[in-house]
Amino acid sequence: MMRYYHTSIMPDEVMDALQVKRDGLYFDGTLGGGGHSLRILQAGGKILATDLDGDAIEYATELFDSHGFHGRYTLIRENFKEFSNICKNLGIEKIDGALLDLGVSSHQFDEPERGFSYRFDAPLDMRMDVRQDLSAYDIINEYKPSELLRILYEYGEESFAKRIVSNIVKVRGESPIRTTGELVKIIENSVPHRKGGHPAKQTFQALRIEVNGELNGLGEAFEDIVHGLKAGARACVITFHSLEDRIIKRKMKTLATDCLCDKSIPICVCGHKAEVKLIKTNLKATKEEMEINTRSKSASLRVVEKI
Ligand SMILES: C[S@@+](CC[C@H](N)C(=O)[O-])C[C@H]1O[C@@H](n2cnc3c(N)ncnc32)[C@H](O)[C@@H]1O
Repeated sequence: MMRYYHTSIMPDEVMDALQVKRDGLYFDGTLGGGGHSLRILQAGGKILATDLDGDAIEYATELFDSHGFHGRYTLIRENFKEFSNICKNLGIEKIDGALLDLGVSSHQFDEPERGFSYRFDAPLDMRMDVRQDLSAYDIINEYKPSELLRILYEYGEESFAKRIVSNIVKVRGESPIRTTGELVKIIENSVPHRKGGHPAKQTFQALRIEVNGELNGLGEAFEDIVHGLKAGARACVITFHSLEDRIIKRKMKTLATDCLCDKSIPICVCGHKAEVKLIKTNLKATKEEMEINTRSKSASLRVVEKI
């Protein structure tokens, strides 16, 4: 029995959208526990997948081999933003479909020493890719107050950002803040009790996004993937918060629009041609899935099809 890693979100909806073809090649940019990719393999597809986390590559390799799929997949420990380079290096011209299931896996949240969760006391880390230098420790202890404020406002939409940052600066002036537990205490002392989740939720989300550069180049990466689709192939994206969802939604809309000229210009001068049509906009998990898997509550599935 393999250990628990992650429960895939909206797996049936993703499979419905992808319409997997026998021997078609599918790009899974966010492999995680390999649940979605396994479904694609079981439907007869082949997988090219990336994940920044070595644990995901190791786990999924074991999973796929245990199901007899050796030779049907290629897993690369890389950022999905490198999609074009990866395809170039492998001599792949076009793919039959793609999936991005953004954010963090349950495994990353549940492993205390990864430092993603406010539920455990662990070193401040939050790196998806542990080969990377920048960690949550560096941000908390070394970023200027103004940078911390920007991150908490922009990535955490934290209305008590000023108080939290001022207390972080006070505490780190005495000695470095080393653990998630110390940070949680500072946050708890900075914000009044509020409904709707743990007081550290938004700060932790903001830090995680900054550590892993989650929003940087996300729209451009999605566009690269769309460029790599065959005609009629589909790309699915699952988002979990409004910041990443906004980026994907806007990019999909642009890619599905023929002309991007200002409305005041009577004839098109930009020559932009739609590359995709919108298939699903903001599909939510079923009630049943939300009951079993609370993580699916905030998920939104968006799907485009290459023209
Ligand atoms: C929500 S999980 C994916 C779960 C997966 N779909 C499944 O069914 O098990 C997201 C995964 O994507 C990885 N990830 C996030 N951003 C990434 C990026 N830019 N490049 C590569 N992997 C990334 C994370 O390390 C994590 O393992």
